[in-house]
Amino acid sequence: MISIDPTDPDPDTTGADGYAVNAQYYDLIFPAAQRDAMSAALTTLLPGARRVVEIGAGTGQFTEVLVANLPEDGEVFAVEPAAVMRAALTTRLAALGAPPVTVLPDDALTAEVNGPVDAVVLLHVLTHFSPVDRRALWARWVPRLTPGGLVVVDVQAPQTPVDVPPTVMPGRTLGRRRYDTVSRAAVEGDGLVWTVTYRVHEGDRLVSEDSVSFPSFIASDAVLHAELREVGCRPVTDPPAGVLAWRAGNGPG
Ligand SMILES: C[S@@+](CC[C@H](N)C(=O)[O-])C[C@H]1O[C@@H](n2cnc3c(N)ncnc32)[C@H](O)[C@@H]1O
Repeated sequence: MISIDPTDPDPDTTGADGYAVNAQYYDLIFPAAQRDAMSAALTTLLPGARRVVEIGAGTGQFTEVLVANLPEDGEVFAVEPAAVMRAALTTRLAALGAPPVTVLPDDALTAEVNGPVDAVVLLHVLTHFSPVDRRALWARWVPRLTPGGLVVVDVQAPQTPVDVPPTVMPGRTLGRRRYDTVSRAAVEGDGLVWTVTYRVHEGDRLVSEDSVSFPSFIASDAVLHAELREVGCRPVTDPPAGVLAWRAGNGPG
């Protein structure tokens, strides 16, 4: 179990230690309904976006969707600081041939992309950003958007800091083994500490379990709308299910 040291003056907020455990299970335990909803949302929102930045690309399950929605001369910049997640990302991308994806092994607050971009996509990553870091994130990326350029995030859950009792999430089966997780969260300060246990079963036997804990920041829809309004973005009305989206400046709706 990874413990969080509240006295650490420079804590790792990317969750990199947690992903060192999580990465091997990531695609196996990711809920299919959530993956389908996010993929559908990107396919609705992104056609027309030529240069797309994906922050926290992880294993690349949505990078693939971004690539599929690019115009012929389009490109994706996939920002992913955790080496273990990048290994899955580059393997997935290599299996596609030579997709136009530049992998940036950087933190979102320091990653560089030359020239303006048409969309910045952040799925399942805002949890790692404190309110101060979120403001730095918007301040860094929104000015890089073309007029009318998009910011897309998944709707955060929970929307307020509340304890979440242990909940089993079924995962997938590979060969003889079945994967699932037990997740719980405890309120700590303004946020949560999630503890996720990854379990591997064979028949009725529990083969192994790995637990990690990581801090999680809460960003309600109202807070995100206020933050994005402050940096000159306006909300996309009726966004696809599961996401929030904004457009920069006064570009086309
Ligand atoms: C829960 S995963 C989401 C991966 C992918 N977006 C998805 O939805 O499947 C969060 C990812 O964000 C990355 N991440 C965490 N902090 C980050 C930061 N400060 N800048 C960029 N990426 C970060 C992690 O390394 C991890 O791969």
